[in-house]
Amino acid sequence: MRLRGRRGTREELEQRTDLVVLDPKAYKGRWHERFGNNNPIHVELGMGKGQFITQLSAQNPDINYIGIDMFDQLLHRASDKAIKARIEHGRPELNNLAIVLFNIEYLEDVFADNELERVYLNFSDPWPKKRHHRRRLTHPNFLRKYMRMLNSNGDIHFKTDSEELFEFSLNSFSDVGLRMRNITLSLHREGNPSFNVMTEYEGKFVEQGKPIYRCEVVVGADALAKHVEALKTETSK
Ligand SMILES: C[S@@+](CC[C@H](N)C(=O)[O-])C[C@H]1O[C@@H](n2cnc3c(N)ncnc32)[C@H](O)[C@@H]1O
Repeated sequence: MRLRGRRGTREELEQRTDLVVLDPKAYKGRWHERFGNNNPIHVELGMGKGQFITQLSAQNPDINYIGIDMFDQLLHRASDKAIKARIEHGRPELNNLAIVLFNIEYLEDVFADNELERVYLNFSDPWPKKRHHRRRLTHPNFLRKYMRMLNSNGDIHFKTDSEELFEFSLNSFSDVGLRMRNITLSLHREGNPSFNVMTEYEGKFVEQGKPIYRCEVVVGADALAKHVEALKTETSK
């Protein structure tokens, strides 16, 4: 991602305390206190410029969203977008989004067990060299962390333009014993599905005519039970 630095960015982030969190470790196990309610928490890991998480948060006031990235400039862009999205949706008073500066490698310092309900992985860095595969956000070492942080309704939503990363990830999900659903090798085959909010990267890849791979991963026990029940109903029709 190309980033153009600007003086004063950090100072401006420090002023946006309603949206931006620069000390996320302080909220471990206490994110509900920050949001002031017990609504489910959905997290995007590597939110980039924030189009996805800011749109979702403006659309769904009853879900709390956290977008994480590690560059000040990206947090600045994302917080600008959040303010704009709230105004566009006629909800400037919304308080259901936190834009967080943090390195995902140390995620367990920020979230307690069972604190989250959904993890979004959108166009995560593909790390093509074999010696870097451990850095992939769908590597089993990361998945085990998400599995601890996700609650009984928990799931993971994953999309990517990288066929190789998708293949690797399906194997990883299976290796840690997780069940996948709604797998597609071309999310945009018939246009953008109504449920799908596009990310910045996704927009570029779709314009280039590249296929987008997507799947959902069932993690929590209740989520799995609901999934199995829904399948039974579907197959008995
Ligand atoms: C390829 S971009 C995708 C951005 C966005 N999700 C999208 O689809 O447009 C990956 C993002 O992940 C962030 N990222 C990668 N590794 C990270 C880490 N260890 N901690 C925090 N953010 C990270 C990068 O800074 C970048 O913004």
